[in-house]
Amino acid sequence: MKTELRENIDWVGYIDWTVRDFHGYETSRGSTYNAFLIRDKDTALIDAVKGTYADHLLSSSSALIDLSDLRYLICNHAEPDHSGALPHVIKACPDIEVVCNAKCKAALEKHYETADWKWRVVEDGDSLSLGSKTLTFINTPMVHWPESMFTYVKEDKILFSMDAFGQHYASSHRFAENDSLETVMFEARTYFANIVMLYGKPIERAMKAVSDLSIEMIAPSHGVIWRDYAKKIITAYSDWVTHKPKKKVLIVYDTMWKSTEIMAHAIMDGVLLHPAGVEARMMNVKNSHITELATETLDTAVLAVGSPTLNKTLMPGMAGALTYLKGLSPAKKAGFAFGSYGWSKGGAKDVYKYLEEIGCEMMSDEPLQCRFVPSKEVIEDCIAVGKDLAEKAVEKASG
Ligand code: FEO
Repeated sequence: MKTELRENIDWVGYIDWTVRDFHGYETSRGSTYNAFLIRDKDTALIDAVKGTYADHLLSSSSALIDLSDLRYLICNHAEPDHSGALPHVIKACPDIEVVCNAKCKAALEKHYETADWKWRVVEDGDSLSLGSKTLTFINTPMVHWPESMFTYVKEDKILFSMDAFGQHYASSHRFAENDSLETVMFEARTYFANIVMLYGKPIERAMKAVSDLSIEMIAPSHGVIWRDYAKKIITAYSDWVTHKPKKKVLIVYDTMWKSTEIMAHAIMDGVLLHPAGVEARMMNVKNSHITELATETLDTAVLAVGSPTLNKTLMPGMAGALTYLKGLSPAKKAGFAFGSYGWSKGGAKDVYKYLEEIGCEMMSDEPLQCRFVPSKEVIEDCIAVGKDLAEKAVEKASG
């Protein structure tokens, strides 16, 4: 497998083909933990891999250099999927200096036994010469943790962007242009929605901080590297960070005896009647993963959520899904709540509260509720609601 990014800069990471869960995110196409080796007068390793795969990192690196020549270990991010192998690298190369910012040092000290580690603490904008190549460090707080930073190599015009622009995607290709563009963009969007949607503003600031740099290659810490498609991912991020809504309605529901499901379908019928050809998606939280829910929510203009009442409140699967969305803070959505009940109206009311907490612009003063099975009149009401939701989607997408 070709690992060279530029002369004397190689990928030495690990392809995790079989991982299917990343703290709750369903990684249906696996992932990669990207690490990069720069050989110069001084040699530097940029980031590491999960601790479980430290031996792979060390053997990939030792195929290119004598490990005792490793001078610097650049730590852009302390999360264990990138720092887990640090103790193993330091054990193999006791003289190596860990290069990171002060917040990263503090975080690493809370993760590992670091008493013997040698540190070089850098500040925003600092540079480190390796000989013919210069590393410049750019603090990017909250992309994805407070200590996160980018590393830029000006001579090669490469931005090592850590989690930003990444994808949980295992591929035999190292560059996006050698892979399916549709697949890598889908995985990049899924990654953005599930990992960094909450951090849109910090990402916007990070993108501004590097906007004056000449960048020919973006090497994230997960997935494929952006070279020919670098501009495509930057353009996509420009939309994603602002949560720019599409002319789209997302209908999400759970159901007990199909009454809420009937309401969901009637709302969909109304959406599809709109002449503007509004995009619509429907998901039942019982058979759709929260990862897909977050991804579909990212660019929707309207989020319509239905739950029946179970024991005074909403269905537990829906509560979990909405809790996940609330944490990710999707913005610029209109919200609508609906659902059936038998004798207590708690289910849809609690959905309504969740949507308010997410920050949705609510489209009614209260949820649309139906006692037991939807009547012909209720179905007509749902169709009318669907038309209104579609109209709202058109309005939000054009605003
Ligand atoms: Fe890939 Fe925030 O770690």
